[in-house]
Order: sequence, then C-alpha cells, then structure tokens
Amino acid sequence: MTKPIDLSTAVRSIHDYPKPGIIFRDITTLLGDAVAFRQAVDELVRPYTGLGVDKIAGVEARGFILGGALAHQLSAGFVPIRKKGKLPHATVRIAYSLEYGVDEMEMHVDAVKPGEKVILTDDLIATGGTAEGAVKLLRQQGAEIVSACFVIDLPDLGGRRKLEDLGVEVRTLMA
Ligand code: PRP
Ligand code: ADE
Repeated sequence: MTKPIDLSTAVRSIHDYPKPGIIFRDITTLLGDAVAFRQAVDELVRPYTGLGVDKIAGVEARGFILGGALAHQLSAGFVPIRKKGKLPHATVRIAYSLEYGVDEMEMHVDAVKPGEKVILTDDLIATGGTAEGAVKLLRQQGAEIVSACFVIDLPDLGGRRKLEDLGVEVRTLMA
C-alpha cells in the first residue's frame, strides 16, 4: 500500500474571495490531483462501509462532486440539494445563512423515503448554516441522518458544534 499523503497540502487558500476578509479554501486543486482525490474519497467512505446506507445527500455545488463518488463507493443513491429554482419536480425549500451570505436551498419532495439512512456530504463546513439547512430538509422528509462528512472543517466558525447539537455525527478530514 502506498503511503498516504497529507491532504491539506492539496488544498489552496485564496484570500479575500468571494468577499474581503474571507480566506477561501479551494478544493479544486485536490480534485485535480488523482492521488489526493482518491485518498480523500477512500478516507471519507471508510467509516461507513457496511452500514447499509441508502443515500448520500450532497449540497450544490462542491458537495455534488464528492457525493457522487461516495455514493458510487457505498453503492448508495445520490440526492442533490440545490440552490433554489434549479430542480424540476416539486420541492421542499429552506432559507439558510453561510459564512459569506444568505440563500435558499431545495430538495425534491420524493428524494428520500421515510426511514432511509442518509449521509450528508459537502467539501467544507464553516458556520454550518448550509449543513443545518440540509439536515432540516432531509429530516422533514423522514430521512435518518447517519452522519455528515466534509473534507474541511473551519472549527473557529462553529459548524461542527451546530450539527452535533442537532444530534448529527460529524466527520472531517482536516481543519
Ligand atoms: C460553500 C461550501 C459549503 C458552504 C459552507 O458553498 O461548499 O456548501 O459554503 O459554509 P457554511 O458552513 O458557513 O454554511 P457555497 O455556498 O459557496 O456554494 P458553491 O459550492 O456553489 O460554491
Ligand atoms: N464556504 C464557507 N466558507 C468557506 C471558505 N472559507 N472556503 C470555502 N468555502 C467556504
């Protein structure tokens, strides 16, 4: 087996994007590195193997990239949670705030069945506003949130704590 790399070296930081004062953690460099991308996906799925997860829910846009890979690895379905106005069928919608703004997200009303075991994923958790909105939508439709996983945690912004207070296990690969 090859030695694991330090995944944090595959992420780049962009200062003052998208607003002054924000240090944007850009995972496109990790995604573009075949070794780092595979390792990140392998590390994210490892704790969930054999749990009988029904679906991975990913938040637009970067959560789609990871979520598709996780769903494939776990032989699970994929649920897209999108910014408002993008999904064609009937939706449930929730407003949320994140580190640098406010928005609304939607999920198809029939994207999960009551009792289905779902893992939420995204590239990063900062304030946790986005993930909190996604958890609420999924639970509203009867999903059981098994866990939430992210490549990056920005611990100073309190997102992990926010999800844990909602009773959601949180796994991350780096701070
Ligand atoms: C980013 C990131 C998470 C969210 C985290 O998405 O991918 O979804 O912010 O922030 P929070 O924990 O403070 O809520 P963004 O809204 O920038 O959307 P994008 O993936 O479409 O760029
Ligand atoms: N989403 C919220 N805060 C972020 C940050 N600092 N970098 C990348 N995505 C983010």
